[in-house]
Amino acid sequence: MERVDLCKVIPLRTIHRPEGDMVVIEGTKDVPFDIKRSYYLYNVPDGCIRGGHAHKNLFQLLVAVSGSFRIILKDGSKMKVERLYKPDEGLIIVPGIWRELDFFSEKAVCMVYASRLYDESDYIRNYEDFLSYKRQYL
Ligand code: TYD
Repeated sequence: MERVDLCKVIPLRTIHRPEGDMVVIEGTKDVPFDIKRSYYLYNVPDGCIRGGHAHKNLFQLLVAVSGSFRIILKDGSKMKVERLYKPDEGLIIVPGIWRELDFFSEKAVCMVYASRLYDESDYIRNYEDFLSYKRQYL
């Protein structure tokens, strides 16, 4: 069963030039899944919390392409807290993990790369339902 230990901050492939830096993310090469969808969060008002759900089958990579934010990860028994603040690193979130994103800085942009197209039936949006879902696999 998926645990928070499998969610890791990884360095991203960066090409440095005197004219500026570039990060390249290729599905299955730079992240352990194929990339089917990308979206980003921005203009998050001070004090707001995003996420507050888990996915049954979705892998994601989160990148703070600008600014910073905090990510709280829970697997039903352990919790892990990460902070993203550099465009050259990203957080892999495996399926079956509850996540909350908060403490967005001014101008923060959270870029997300996902392994599947949007599917509401892949979400678990209630924390008690998430705990019951995890207990099935104990
Ligand atoms: P949600 O995933 O709940 O946002 P967050 O976890 O960042 O707080 O998505 C917010 C809304 O946007 C929700 O109504 C579903 C919709 N949505 C899509 O239509 N397509 C997508 O790819 C995503 C991520 C969300």
